[in-house]
Amino acid sequence: MGEILGLGMTHSPPLLAQGGDTAARLRTMMRDPLLPERYQDPARWPEPMRREWGNDEGKTHVERHREELVAAMRWARKELDAFRPDLVIVFGDDQYENFREDGVPAFQINCFDAFSARPWAAKRPGYRNAWDEPVAKEFRYHADKKAAKRLASRLIGDGFEVAYAYEPRHDAMPHAILNTLLFLDWDRQGFDYPVVPFLTNCYGRQLVPLRGGGVNDLSKIPAEDDLDPPGPSAWRCFDLGRALARILGEGSDRVALVASASWSHAFLAGDTSYFHPDVVTDRRYFDAMVNGDYALWRNSTLADIEAHGHQEMLNWIFVLGAMAELGRKPQEAFFIESWLTNATKAFAAFRPS
Ligand SMILES: [Fe+2]
Repeated sequence: MGEILGLGMTHSPPLLAQGGDTAARLRTMMRDPLLPERYQDPARWPEPMRREWGNDEGKTHVERHREELVAAMRWARKELDAFRPDLVIVFGDDQYENFREDGVPAFQINCFDAFSARPWAAKRPGYRNAWDEPVAKEFRYHADKKAAKRLASRLIGDGFEVAYAYEPRHDAMPHAILNTLLFLDWDRQGFDYPVVPFLTNCYGRQLVPLRGGGVNDLSKIPAEDDLDPPGPSAWRCFDLGRALARILGEGSDRVALVASASWSHAFLAGDTSYFHPDVVTDRRYFDAMVNGDYALWRNSTLADIEAHGHQEMLNWIFVLGAMAELGRKPQEAFFIESWLTNATKAFAAFRPS
């Protein structure tokens, strides 16, 4: 019987850079003339947000936030190594990288033999990565075309019509996958596990109008008419995850399912005027996950997702669906709160008992 590990983490891009995240986006938003009055003065912010702002405009908070994330990445790698996977399926979103005007599937499994990337070559001049690696440094990863094709075939057979790709259309590999692998190898010991990237159109209606990003200027919120058709629903992702657990359970491989995404994104959260992440709602989702109460997750509507900036959490819903199928709750989970950076983060491990 196949064994499954569930793991949740983030692919937060600022962590790639030296110094990591800053509160720079928030400071820019504070100058936005359309910002609601309640956000204009830090004295009126929610209490935990004011505490993070402190008397150094969040400097201490972002430094601590980065340290917590690096420690969590090392923890995630330990979980993976302890499990000794034969295959690592990474759930990540394609943010206008391959899913663009020339075609947007709901789901796509990349069926590659291997892939490589030079993450630093595309950065602006002067960018310094967290590891001080040379601009031309290339990373090569193992994949598993046969296993990926088998997986796509079985899911399609079960009524989940995933797209598949044998080569990239535009970018070599979406950052949701690539950053995950770079972070899981924080200490640069190498990453030799075969990877199957499972991509989802998480950005849905905002994908093309916001080009896989978010709202950083309140005069540029896309009009209803300019929005795209939606991405897949939460319940559909959840049920796909359930099917996946059944399919993998019939095999003999040890498979790690890695959900890679930050939770509420400020730049997607309509409810908070795109100013700060919806931390309060994230806490509700976190508590539900810890208690194995996955109904809240499966029942999220498109309106909920867009109000809370939860678009990328679809990546987690697949894994939670699989865990529901296995009757599992996380043995360990932690919430890394941040009101000042663009997103809150969470980590979780669902080990086979
Ligand atoms: Fe992302």
